[in-house]
Amino acid sequence: MNSENDVLRVVGGKPLNGKIKVRGAKNFVSKAMVAALLAPGVSVLKNVPEIRDVHVVSDLLRLHGVNVDVNGADGVVTIDASHVELANVADVDTLSGSSRIPILFSGPLLHRLGEAFIPALGGCAIGGRPIDFHLATLRKLGATVDKEHEDGIHITAPNGLHGAKIHLPYPSVGATEQTLLAAVLAEGKTELSGAAIEPEIMDLVSVLQKMGAVISVDVDRTFRIEGVKELKGFTHTSLTDRIEAASWASAALATHGDIFVKGATQPEMMTFLNVFRKIGGEFDIQDEGIRFWHPGGDLKPVAIETDVHPGFMTDWQQPLVVALTQAKGLSIVHETVYENRFGFTKPLVQMGATVQLYRECLGSLPCRFQQRNYKHSAVIFGPTPLTGRDIDVPDLRGGFSHLIAALAAEGPSTVRGISLIDRGYADFRGKLAALGADFE
Ligand code: EPZ
Repeated sequence: MNSENDVLRVVGGKPLNGKIKVRGAKNFVSKAMVAALLAPGVSVLKNVPEIRDVHVVSDLLRLHGVNVDVNGADGVVTIDASHVELANVADVDTLSGSSRIPILFSGPLLHRLGEAFIPALGGCAIGGRPIDFHLATLRKLGATVDKEHEDGIHITAPNGLHGAKIHLPYPSVGATEQTLLAAVLAEGKTELSGAAIEPEIMDLVSVLQKMGAVISVDVDRTFRIEGVKELKGFTHTSLTDRIEAASWASAALATHGDIFVKGATQPEMMTFLNVFRKIGGEFDIQDEGIRFWHPGGDLKPVAIETDVHPGFMTDWQQPLVVALTQAKGLSIVHETVYENRFGFTKPLVQMGATVQLYRECLGSLPCRFQQRNYKHSAVIFGPTPLTGRDIDVPDLRGGFSHLIAALAAEGPSTVRGISLIDRGYADFRGKLAALGADFE
């Protein structure tokens, strides 16, 4: 992206008011597209947002000879995986660093081809983003993983994959998806305990069941998968992106605005809605979506801890922190999922916010970062007026938070690295315009 195009000049201080529509979940649609690889047939995915992740996965599928048609306007992706072939390593490497999704191609490619080249992964700089759980799972299911070249890994399973008993040390979303995508066609039964059960994962389970898979989940978050011989294509409409919906809700609070988010659904946002209400935000659940607004008066401070589902989602905290800079008093955020997700607060402080980061766990949840050197707790004092400034976007959700801060601040801001936001927020410029934001 050339630098000029990658900049947004914003004049803040105006409430965001209006209606926007949010489509399917970024952290589901890419996985459903990978699942299509499991079946020698045609799959149709609907309600797909126009985001970069969809194009990265489409490109990687096409490199493996798969036919992909992306209809951005209608939000429909049609995938014909009747034919799959090994991709040329050099081509795969061109996608190195672009996303974390490629690692999920491992299981499906091992089932279809007996081997896979996976490019080095990308993903937001919010922590180490290791894939040790993924590789351990693939090895337990019978794959051989070797470090082929610094740009990625080469995985083989000449005798196919077989069921296994797998326990995740931490309920990793990606590692859970890795296991599900590999176990559905593995020989025999797989038991996956300590799994993640995010709504996006349960939508992936629905897709796999539509394809012919046999999967159940117990109350203790243990998945049981019985391998089947073959799967067939699916037709599925994605659940709405609850992260994007919550991001716009936080923008309504931070800018004293009133935003109707078409497509937002209550069950998946339950925990967010409780916090939104405790801060003093108002919301109205309607059939077509949810209306979020700032009712006037002071916002109240809160103490929150991020956690795996059904806890408060880590991806919700960054946009909400901007609203907390406008709450009257001290708020606390204990980030227990990623060790390094508060980098985005530095520009907020430069804009006038009062945010202090701590290495201590400021909460009661058990946390892997307790005795380590990560500043993973934040205390936010407000209300503090924000002043516009030049900002460089650090990661996807942090970048959206900077955009909200610029919209809430008095005066002009220049936000650089805007293309990072395109990864997860479809047509956000169009949405900002629909909400009356002043930007170019
Ligand atoms: C998914 O990332 C999402 N991304 C993230 O959203 C989301 O924040 C995260 O899940 C948690 O909900 C996509 O789905 C593309 P994890 P993922 O594996 O799967 C550790 C966004 O902004 N871990 O659940 O990569 C890891 O270090 C993004 O949309 C290992 O130690 O997250 C982290 O501390 C940001 N070893 C924790 O687990 C592993 O092999 C959670 O990571 C894998 C993970």
